[in-house]
Parts: sequence; structure tokens; C-alpha cells
Amino acid sequence: LRLFVSRDAGAIAVGADDVALALEQAAAGRGIAVEIVRTGSRGMYWLEPLVEVATPQGRIAFGPVTEADVPSLLDALANNTPHLLRLGATDELPWLKRQTRLTFARCGVIDPRSLDDYRAHGGYKGLERALSLGSDAILNEVTASGLRGRGGAGFPTGIKWKTVTQAKADRKFIVCNADEGDSGTFADRMIIEGDPFLVIEGMTIAGITVGATKGYIYIRSEYPHAVEAMNAAIQAAKRGGYLGDKIGGSTHSFDLEVRVGAGAYVCGEETSLLESLEGRRGIVRAKPPLPAHHGLFGKPTVINNVLSFAAVPFILAEGAKAYADYGMGRSRGTMPIQLAGNIRQGGLFETAFGVTLAELVDDIGGGTFTGRPVRAVQVGGPLGAYFPRSLFDTPFDYEAFAARDGLIGHGGIVVFDDSVDMRRQARFAMEFCAVESCGKCTPCRIGSTRGVETIEKIINGERVSENLALVEDLCNTMKFGSLCALGGFTPYPVLSALKHFREDFAPVPTTLQAAE
Ligand code: NAI
Ligand code: SF4
Repeated sequence: LRLFVSRDAGAIAVGADDVALALEQAAAGRGIAVEIVRTGSRGMYWLEPLVEVATPQGRIAFGPVTEADVPSLLDALANNTPHLLRLGATDELPWLKRQTRLTFARCGVIDPRSLDDYRAHGGYKGLERALSLGSDAILNEVTASGLRGRGGAGFPTGIKWKTVTQAKADRKFIVCNADEGDSGTFADRMIIEGDPFLVIEGMTIAGITVGATKGYIYIRSEYPHAVEAMNAAIQAAKRGGYLGDKIGGSTHSFDLEVRVGAGAYVCGEETSLLESLEGRRGIVRAKPPLPAHHGLFGKPTVINNVLSFAAVPFILAEGAKAYADYGMGRSRGTMPIQLAGNIRQGGLFETAFGVTLAELVDDIGGGTFTGRPVRAVQVGGPLGAYFPRSLFDTPFDYEAFAARDGLIGHGGIVVFDDSVDMRRQARFAMEFCAVESCGKCTPCRIGSTRGVETIEKIINGERVSENLALVEDLCNTMKFGSLCALGGFTPYPVLSALKHFREDFAPVPTTLQAAE
């Protein structure tokens, strides 16, 4: 029997390691020969631990499997009899079948420790084509694909790479931002744990394009499994001739190192991340100069999110058009969307831009976990706006969200049911900013603390109208006066809560106030 059990941190958290061990032991006890391949996750977290079995018709999935289910599951597999946890052919599961997995095509399928498995599933085709094309043609492909920065800002990747290519310097660097700090996001972690060679391949293509021979991948310390997976993949890529000198048999050199962050949200901001990489405290640098001109150690640097690098091998292997054919408007290709919070079917759903919030939350996500009505969703992490049901027709697209004072950010959606108190969510946004502020500029450092205090007064019913006006005024100051997105975007969740959920902030009637 050939079985597949995820080694993804999300699967391990619900017992995947225990299930894998139990399968091994029970099989040995029964004299059944099994090979257990530890893969990444398919992203259907409500079905983890998921166990798949290889059959001539493809893989068949069972889940969620507990240790207690293992003996009966093995018996059913050995005797080819039905089992209660049988979900059917994995590729036919509606959740997977509805997706367009360009970036996550291999995640959950291959052994992330095996370079051979990666290559057997189309890995390094992008690099091979990139080597045959050369810098200018690669830039044309990446630009024509319409790929935009998947960290959140959506800046065109081709233009960023071109800026670094054209910069004159003795050294250049490639930096991968894996400091995935947004609430409800886990796509960077999943792809590093499930398909790390993909990220290495994307960074290597970037190195060849801009003329950089050294790359760093900055992974947050909260992701120990990702750190381990990436280090193992780097060693395997070196042994296989895909990192180091003469990569892939070419004249190019490219090397890669993992650096582990120390837990600050602001280190996901690119200049702060560079400071941290250089060994200093993570404090935001003023821009300009852009990292593309003056980045790591003062040298021109491509700094991109994990998902941006991970999208590149497909674009090179299949051509820009194959990627650009998906999407809507200026948002081309696919987005790995992460469904989290109070949701029945939480997980990773990669699809072309254009899918609406309603489809994602009600249909794909299956509504709330508690079964109560959905009241709000926060899209784009702790700095993203709260959207009410009346805006659920918004398509997943950078511009459509911006037009409604929101952002898609890194693609995280956190769902709340009707028990949510939006005053507390607004307070939380300010508190988060106060805790995570790097302290460099006043609107963020001081404003966020004053914001917490003022929203607390509103919660306590103190001079509500006056304090609401004060919060709005403060938000404007933070929005336009902050140096980086942390202080500048905190107003989004606060103002969206005030605008769309005003009833939660309704002033207490004056008679009541007087009585207090
Ligand atoms: P930004 O708009 O300042 O820059 C975007 C990127 O484009 C940067 O890499 C910048 O250096 C580059 N760039 C801008 N103009 C350029 C030019 N002319 N040539 C070359 N490169 C150029 O946005 P920022 O502050 O980097 O990111 C803000 C976003 O980060 C927000 O939209 C938010 O959604 C997201 N975010 C993501 C988090 C995560 O966990 N992934 C956490 C927090 C925020
Ligand atoms: Fe630092 Fe906040 Fe200013 Fe950003 S907005 S530079 S996190 S103080």
C-alpha cells in the first residue's frame, strides 16, 4: 500500500504525525507492507488528517482520520471494503475540482523533501526555459503575465525586476519575504512546507534575470516546520546542482540561505525586513530610495513575497499568456485565497481573480462553523477592511476592493458570525497597531494608543458622538501621516467598522447617559 499523509504544520496540529505513526505500526502488526509518503497539505483543513491511498485509478481520500480509525481503515484498504471515512477520488472532491491550481498544483501531491519528485511533476521546467531565454526575454514574460506582488501591494513584478536589472552595482540580492504576519493567512507557510523547490526555482529565475548570485529567504520564527522544510530543500537543491555554481548546467551561480525572524509583524514590511536581515532592529526605512535601487546592504534588491516567486516557474514553463488568460481587469492569473476564522470549510482555495466574496464565504467556505449567520468578513489581514453582507458581491480583484475602501492584501479572509461586536474589533485594530508599531513615526506610535483609549470610551458609553468624531479624525491623521502601511492602513478596519456597522457604535440615549 502506498499512503500519503500530510506533514504540514496545520495537519500535524490536528494529529497527522500520530496517524502516520499509527498506520505504520498497525500495518507492521498485520504484516501489510506500506509506504507512507509525507506530503504537504491539500489545503482542506477541515478534513485533516487526510489519508490518501494510491490506486490504479488515482488517489482515494479518507478523512478526517484519527488514531482510533487506523485499524479499521487499514483493514478496509487491505480487503478493498468500504469505509465510513472514504471521501472518494481526491481530484474529484468539489473543493479541489473547482480550483485553478497553478501555484499550488503540486502542494499535497509530492514529497516536499524529494527533488526527484519535484522534477517528475514538472519542476524546474520554468528554470530550464528561463536559462534558454536570457534576461530580457524573461522580463518580457513576467511583465506580460501581468503578475503583481502577492504580498499585498500588488505592484507589477516585471517592473520591479526590470528596475533591479537596470541598476548598476557590483552585487545584487534576491530576498524572499516569508514573514507572513497577516491574520488568517497561511499560503506562504503551506507552499514552503509542501513545495519548497518551487520557491527556490522562482528565486533562482529572479537571480538569473537581474544578475544576482545570492538570495535570502526570511521566514518568521513562528514557522519552524517551514524553516526545516526550506533548509532541507536548499540542501537537496545544492546536491542536485540547482543551487551553487553552474546551476542546471549553465554558467550562472545562485545560492540561498534561510534567515529566521524574531516575531515582529513590522518585519514583514520590506525595509524593516532588510534592516533585520542586516542584523539590526526591525525599524522601517523611509522610501525612496526603493529597495530596488538601495536594498540589502545598500545594493539593488528584488524583494518579493513567497507567492510572487512561486508564481514565476509556471509563467516561464507555460508562457505568460497561459497565466494572463486567467483573472479580471488588471488582476491577472490566480490568487491563493485563504479562508479562516469562523468558517465551516477553512483552507486554501486557489482560483482566478474575479470570484466574489459571497461565493467564497457562503458557497466554497460553507458559511460559519457555528452555523450562525455571517455578519462580517475581514479581508487582507489585520490592516484590511471589514465587509458586511451588502458588499459580498465584490469580486476578488485589487481595484474592486480598493474602490470599496478595502484591500485584498495577501488573500486572507477571516469570517465572523452575528455574535461579533464591531466596537471590539475596531479597538483590536488600534491595539494591534500599538503593540506592533516600530515606533518611528508619531501618528502610528502615539495615535494607535490614543485610538485604543478613545474606542474604549465609546464602548463605555462616554460622550459617544464626540469620541466617534475624534476616532475618525485620528484615523485620517494616521492614514496620511504614517510612514508605512502599519500605521497607514490601521484606519481601514476601524473606519470600515464605523461605516458598515454603525449600529454597534450607536450613541447611548442621552437620558441613559445622564443616569450613568
Ligand atoms: P508599496 O506600494 O510601498 O510597495 C510595493 C512594492 O513595490 C514594494 O516592494 C516597493 O519597493 C515596490 N515599488 C514601488 N514602486 C516601485 C518602482 N517604481 N520600482 C520598483 N519597485 C517599486 O507597498 P508596501 O508598503 O511594500 O506593502 C503594503 C502592503 O503590504 C499592503 O497592501 C498590505 O496588504 C501588505 N501587507 C502584507 C502582509 C503579509 O503578511 N503578507 C502584512 C502586512 C501588510
Ligand atoms: Fe513604524 Fe508605525 Fe511609522 Fe510604520 S507607521 S514606520 S510601523 S511607527
